[in-house]
Amino acid sequence: MNNYKIAIIPGDGIGPEVVREGLKVLDAVSQKYQFKVETTTFDFGGAHYLKTGEVLPDSAVENFKKFDAIYLGAVGHPDVKPGILEKGILLKLRFDLEQYINLRPVKLYENIATPIKNKKPEDINYVVVRENTGGLYTGEGSFEHKGTLDEVAVQKMIYSRKQVERCIRFAFQAITTAHQDNPWSGLTREEIDQGFIGKLTLCGKTNVLTYVYDLWERTLNEVAKEYSNIKTDYVHVDAMCIYMIESPERFNYIVTGNMFGDIITDLAAVTQGGMGVAPSGNINPEGVSMFEPVHGSAPQFTGKNVINPIAAIATVHMMLARLGEVKAAENVEAAMRETIKKMKSMLVEQMGYSTSEIGDMVVAGL
Ligand code: IPM
Ligand code: MN
Repeated sequence: MNNYKIAIIPGDGIGPEVVREGLKVLDAVSQKYQFKVETTTFDFGGAHYLKTGEVLPDSAVENFKKFDAIYLGAVGHPDVKPGILEKGILLKLRFDLEQYINLRPVKLYENIATPIKNKKPEDINYVVVRENTGGLYTGEGSFEHKGTLDEVAVQKMIYSRKQVERCIRFAFQAITTAHQDNPWSGLTREEIDQGFIGKLTLCGKTNVLTYVYDLWERTLNEVAKEYSNIKTDYVHVDAMCIYMIESPERFNYIVTGNMFGDIITDLAAVTQGGMGVAPSGNINPEGVSMFEPVHGSAPQFTGKNVINPIAAIATVHMMLARLGEVKAAENVEAAMRETIKKMKSMLVEQMGYSTSEIGDMVVAGL
């Protein structure tokens, strides 16, 4: 019997509530498919920081390396200055555990209202592969003449060939293995007839960021030679924002740098029904990955049992797929789809059910 050790970081605000529902589903599906899940809960987050002054010690990161995955709710606390928890917990985990891919599937499920007129579930079904440890997030930069009129602030967008190449390779590989669940999305009839199984679009800005995205474009074109059955495409990030709204059906997989990936995936989340549904995985393909809903801690709704746990449950679906429990993952997704069909809305307080009722419905639907 497979046994998975999962580190749980419920975090702040509504984090613990949505994690509770995700774990309910994980527990039920593990019984059905006969694998064991051993969870250990860690109280890192804003409340812990305010109480102890500790954000996330190196020893904790070391300890996380012993787990098969990390499941995180949300961090962010109204009494903690912005940046401390984001940098000290989320970014530290991504960097120190070398989770160099941020995988963000964008899928519109049936019965979810998208703000884009006339788009249906088959039109909004793609995956963003966001580079997760480099670029502007590297944190290198400087102030000169700080506080004077002559002040200059520098923030460097740094990418090595290795960082870019491993990210692009991950995307090609993901298409090769995943196209069964996402067949032919983004391709025209003609391209399918030509034998393509998927499409990888690089989102960049080669007309202005002539160093960094030149590196990305060259790397994409070189690696593409090894994947002759995958169509490649290039779109500037600003045009990407138009196409994601006007014609999302043209996308299958999108690969991009850290900052652009951060921005376009918030836009993408809105098109799939909002923050209540968007999951993400911070992936280290050779190590420990961390799974978290894209949404934040929404402190104003804490403890009210009104927040949408679908994103956290979709995150469990992603985690199971990544752990290799494919049948269990598919079952969670199917039960989630059925539950979504019964919900009135994906928005907080308007779902027609409470947070815990939705978790129960997914469990019942397994
Ligand atoms: C995200 C978040 C983080 C990011 C913040 C909280 C540091 O916006 O996961 O997208 O910028 O990556
Ligand atoms: Mn973000």
